[in-house]
Amino acid sequence: MSVIVKIFRHYAYQRYLYRLKTRKTISENEKINKIVSEIEDKGICVLNNYIEKKLIKKIKLEISETLKKKNIIKKLKIYDFNDQGIKRYLSADKLSKTANKLFYNSFFDEIAKHYVSKNVVAYQKMYEIKGSEGKFATTDIFHFDDWRKRFKVFLYLNDVGINNCPFCYIPKSIKSDKKRILKELEYIALGKSGSYGYYLNHEMENLKKRKNYSEITVTGEAGTVILVDTRGLHKGNPSIFGNKRELLATYYDLR
Ligand SMILES: [Fe+2]
Repeated sequence: MSVIVKIFRHYAYQRYLYRLKTRKTISENEKINKIVSEIEDKGICVLNNYIEKKLIKKIKLEISETLKKKNIIKKLKIYDFNDQGIKRYLSADKLSKTANKLFYNSFFDEIAKHYVSKNVVAYQKMYEIKGSEGKFATTDIFHFDDWRKRFKVFLYLNDVGINNCPFCYIPKSIKSDKKRILKELEYIALGKSGSYGYYLNHEMENLKKRKNYSEITVTGEAGTVILVDTRGLHKGNPSIFGNKRELLATYYDLR
């Protein structure tokens, strides 16, 4: 499909239809409304120590026991980005009964329904280990994942400090901006053959000054939950001394 057709289709109706399908809705639960409003405003909401330490310990134990079972492991999809120091296990709800009950099937699904759409589904459930000294990931550069809402929930399974791969986000960067309009246009027209939502350092510095943006680095203890729309600008961080960062993640989208 030509670039012109892609751009025309996107701005003529695709974007408009998507917005119609993804309207925020009000919950009867005030806690959910408060969280949804915060995500709508800033793009991120952090719940420190949301899941108790003893449950985190149980989840980690169950995961390590399951990872010893070859019959289960061979059925899982595993992405091993060894050069970037990242390993991801998909269908992670099968790795821990406790995680499946407490994290994957929880009130986060309700938040996703009210923030994204009642038709939203948790299409990816993942266990990720990151962190090898001297290894840098592609995603350690500021970028947006999409022009659409990209709602994700992360649960830190270990204490995450500044040196072991904390998540980094620019609050309010989901909002429109002249630079963002051009970046989205390129994303739509060229996809992965363009900059694909990635910003160079000088573009970030300019944007931060112009919009008065400042980044937040989410450090936190095991049990901390991050609810985030990765339509906003974000990045990972490398491991400085080789210490790992383990997390569970759920990705939501319309399907
Ligand atoms: Fe991303």
